[in-house]
Amino acid sequence: MPVTQSAVRLINHLDRDYLRQALEHDVRTGLSATPKQLPPKWFYDAAGSELFTRITRLPEYYPTRRELSILRARAGDIAARSGADNLVELGSGTSEKTVLLLDALAARTLRSYTPVDVDAATLADAAHRLSARYPGLRVQAVCADFERHLALLPRDGRRMVAFLGGTIGNLDPGSREVFLRELRATLRPGDSLLLGADLVKATSRLVAAYDDAQGVTAAFNRNVLHVINRELGADFVPAAFEHVALYDERNDWIEMRLRASRAMRVRVAALGMTVAFAAGEEMRTEISAKFRPERLLGELSAAGFTVVERYTDPAQDFTLILAGV
Ligand SMILES: C[S@@+](CC[C@H](N)C(=O)[O-])C[C@H]1O[C@@H](n2cnc3c(N)ncnc32)[C@H](O)[C@@H]1O
Repeated sequence: MPVTQSAVRLINHLDRDYLRQALEHDVRTGLSATPKQLPPKWFYDAAGSELFTRITRLPEYYPTRRELSILRARAGDIAARSGADNLVELGSGTSEKTVLLLDALAARTLRSYTPVDVDAATLADAAHRLSARYPGLRVQAVCADFERHLALLPRDGRRMVAFLGGTIGNLDPGSREVFLRELRATLRPGDSLLLGADLVKATSRLVAAYDDAQGVTAAFNRNVLHVINRELGADFVPAAFEHVALYDERNDWIEMRLRASRAMRVRVAALGMTVAFAAGEEMRTEISAKFRPERLLGELSAAGFTVVERYTDPAQDFTLILAGV
């Protein structure tokens, strides 16, 4: 079926100047900190999104398969309970799992789909693909940062905001609290949130999911260095950094880090900055929080959400929570 481009509206809150300033700020701040750290959103250029898609198909990476299985079993129920006519999806990526929600909602009330992502290319591809698959569906793709632009998202119709893939776990507890409160403030009576979250489980399975045998997650982790090299004229040697994934049991989160395999100095030309790494020094590139259901329900309630239903898979590996306001 030909792509009906006219049915897709693209809205961009991340023009080149904005992205450049945000990246400069995060790199300057993160590489000056002790320990050094970078926020995970910069993994996701086109190459990073492609690597993430490969991760979702790895035998060790159970979250996507578990979330898919819950959606297969429960999308009809979710659609009926939400009654949404506008599905808004934060961090939508390739929107692969979303098709299950769109099918269930389209059979009822759906009129528009609003995917939101920082990666403009992957977002536009997904928007055109879904527009072709669902003729008559209004697709408004919004290139935006869900930590900054929630208030700018389209508010038409009765909305269900889906935040899938366990991406909520990439926010530290303070940022998560702010995010949930800000999201709640944008919702009106009748709107809902569908939140996907990974659950606490055996450490060996958690670590394997972030340290696969084929090294795809390692390549994804190093991609942030390629992004900084390209965008800010840095001279990171990505191969000189080892991928590290560990589980922090005190905080219930996976940490991904990049460990300098030798002492080195890295020049970031656009920032006029030279950064020294000691041999073995580790830089944090992502946290991925794993949840105990009662804690997550408590956080939602504290942010002003009312839980409608909590779904899980038979192994209780992953959860989807439908909440109203
Ligand atoms: C872990 S992937 C999940 C993708 C997809 N939702 C899934 O469940 O497979 C995170 C997605 O969120 C996007 N993302 C990360 N940080 C973001 C931010 N601050 N604002 C908007 N999108 C973001 C990434 O580009 C990526 O597509």
